[in-house]
Amino acid sequence: MISQKKGLIVANWKMNHSHLEAIHTIQKFSYAFDIEQVPQSKVVICPSFTSLRSVQTIIESDELPVLLGAQDVSENKNGAYTGDVSAEMLSQLRAKFVIVGHSERRKYHNESNELILKKAKMALSFGITPIVCVGEIEENDGLVEEQVNSIKSISDKIVVAYEPVWAIGTGKSASVEHIEKVSNSISDIIGFETTLLYGGSADIKNASLIMGIDRVGGLLVGSASLDGENFAKLIYASLS
Ligand code: PGA
Repeated sequence: MISQKKGLIVANWKMNHSHLEAIHTIQKFSYAFDIEQVPQSKVVICPSFTSLRSVQTIIESDELPVLLGAQDVSENKNGAYTGDVSAEMLSQLRAKFVIVGHSERRKYHNESNELILKKAKMALSFGITPIVCVGEIEENDGLVEEQVNSIKSISDKIVVAYEPVWAIGTGKSASVEHIEKVSNSISDIIGFETTLLYGGSADIKNASLIMGIDRVGGLLVGSASLDGENFAKLIYASLS
């Protein structure tokens, strides 16, 4: 199978880090990270909404080799949607990516495949690349296929993150064989050109092994991205 370009490493800070902690974390990351060691890397940091502006300012003023991403976006353009954040607002902060349909949004906010498609399209219309998350709750429950089919129409414009729900935040990533099998069946639906990330307890120890899987082009990292220095080491481990 085609070996795609590897190197997209995305930090998902979830609901962690106040804006002050976010500044500290990105600074710690910048001291520890030297892009010349992994020139093929494309690093994206997705802080919470309240930290986006602070992180953006540091990235731009210090010219860090890092792109900004958000963790969610509204499916609506603007208007009376209390608590929501629009794609236009994100694009004005120069966010280049947004995570859409994370399993925690699907679970705690009942996000459906239809809603996730609308959010992804809204992001695209403002030049933001959606990282659409898919993943089964239990092994072989058929959910991944359904989720992937629902985004097939835009698969050439998005990044897909395969995150088995049972592997998220558990410290136990899926096995190489399992990731290989599911990433191939995802690719059978959306094609082999779409960048495919793996997420679910990716860490310094397993990063290189997972990145060795032919179809895996990068990682979506939660817990192991919360410490700036640790995250820099994880990127080196994945790509050197
Ligand atoms: P984790 O989270 O790395 O802590 O398992 C990954 C994710 O949910 O994106």
